[in-house]
Amino acid sequence: MSTFESRTQVKESHSVTSIIVFGASGDLAHKKTFPALFELFKANLLPKNTLIYGYARSVMERDVFVKKATSYIKATEELVAKFMESVVYISGSYDKEADFVRLREIIDAGEKKVHLSLVKTDDAEQKENRLRIYYMALPPSVFVSVSENIKKSVYDANAENHLVVEKPFGFDQESSRVLNSQISKDWSEAEIFRTDHYLGKEMVKNIMVLRFANMFYEAVWDNKHISNVQITFREPFGTYGRGGYFDQFGIIRDVMQNHLIQVLSILAMEPPASLNAEDVRDRKTEVLKSISPITLEDTLLGQYTKSEDGKELGYLDDPTVSKDSNTPTFAEHVVRIDNDRWRGVPWILKAAKAVDVAKVVIRIQFKDIESSVFPKLARNELVIEISPTNKIYLKTIVKEPGLSSRLTLSDLNLSYSAVFDKTLIPDAYASLLLDVIGTDHSNFVRADELDEAWRIFTPLLKRIENEKIKPLPYAYGSRGPEGESDFHIRFGGYKPTKLDYKWFSTTTGPVTKPSVPKL
Ligand code: BG6
Repeated sequence: MSTFESRTQVKESHSVTSIIVFGASGDLAHKKTFPALFELFKANLLPKNTLIYGYARSVMERDVFVKKATSYIKATEELVAKFMESVVYISGSYDKEADFVRLREIIDAGEKKVHLSLVKTDDAEQKENRLRIYYMALPPSVFVSVSENIKKSVYDANAENHLVVEKPFGFDQESSRVLNSQISKDWSEAEIFRTDHYLGKEMVKNIMVLRFANMFYEAVWDNKHISNVQITFREPFGTYGRGGYFDQFGIIRDVMQNHLIQVLSILAMEPPASLNAEDVRDRKTEVLKSISPITLEDTLLGQYTKSEDGKELGYLDDPTVSKDSNTPTFAEHVVRIDNDRWRGVPWILKAAKAVDVAKVVIRIQFKDIESSVFPKLARNELVIEISPTNKIYLKTIVKEPGLSSRLTLSDLNLSYSAVFDKTLIPDAYASLLLDVIGTDHSNFVRADELDEAWRIFTPLLKRIENEKIKPLPYAYGSRGPEGESDFHIRFGGYKPTKLDYKWFSTTTGPVTKPSVPKL
């Protein structure tokens, strides 16, 4: 199945679907997995006979579990209660066989009950065609023991079994290979769904459509027309509360090696032969293979300190972070793709925690025009905003309206909120869960793709750690460390020329921005 098949109706291809959420008492399950399941339930997109199980170590009364599992769901009490009717909580260990055997018995009993009712309704066709989804919302330390135990005691060879694994998948190329080989001795690649939630985001899914369903973008999508590409992730909050996890991983493993490199691979890949998952993933992997490992010389690292007003704590003020930690909370790299399409184009990737704004954005800057008619002006730039809003705009030179013959820079602007119903945009996790139910791997990371992503970053990560490279300080709430503002210029990015920039707000009409567009 491919990612662009209709998702407005569930494919009722299984007689019963059992979804088991491991780590059901944890943050990820409460914040993402259960709300995503609820979103599908609300939209009538869960298959007809779906049974949901929460599994975790904590011993909890049902009402405590219900309260936690629904704490991030926004809907009427009635609807939430209706959803929770099909959710059962089971407490058990992550390493004792007996607990997994007990889980298997509960799942078997649930499926049996559904089948008995199907026989009663004489739905013979749908008999015994079961899907089991094992969703591991778990810390990586228990991935292997849980997946082994599932395989040994819960896996059903007569059913379709899907194992959903959350990041982080390993710590570097070697550990990721070890993890993969441990998991793949029990599970086939077709059964594994490695999640990168950025692949479920609306605007990330839109990149392929934009590129391959529109004549004009693909026509200029290369080094003859594009000067540089910038993929930027900025978050206005720090890591307080999750410093224990973050300090071991750092921003490169947390955001860069997965989310941003995935976005890059879709932007840069060659057109796939079809929209089938393997064709798409082949193309993504191929482009990653053309990237040499990133060097320290092509990198800027930072770590946030207290905010200037002293109100926000610095990274090292977190008691769960070691006092002499060199873990970067800011990283900017220049990535070069050595193939015919992209040779010579710098791809500038930036990920930053505790900076001035919340924004994830792609900027594709075109080359200067060589025109004998008009002077060299500002460049065209295609901007795809992934969050906090969904928008696409193309900075375009136009004639200023009126009798003047001045030129100005404005936007061809598609703001999703102005054009589409906001409620149509699903949460990334809901979209990915629907893919797991529909056995669509296009938006999941294949083993060889993951290996390539680690290959690109592992030498740099090792060097940072072995040579104890100190990141540059930057104040909480600032734009980043010294050198941030000219990093992309240094590496071949765009230095804007002076030009008025007219920006059309969808609500208020034209607004003249005070000066040239900021990068
Ligand atoms: C997660 C990272 O994978 O992605 C977090 O671990 C980060 O550090 C988050 O904040 C960002 O996701 P989103 O969907 O809020 O952009």
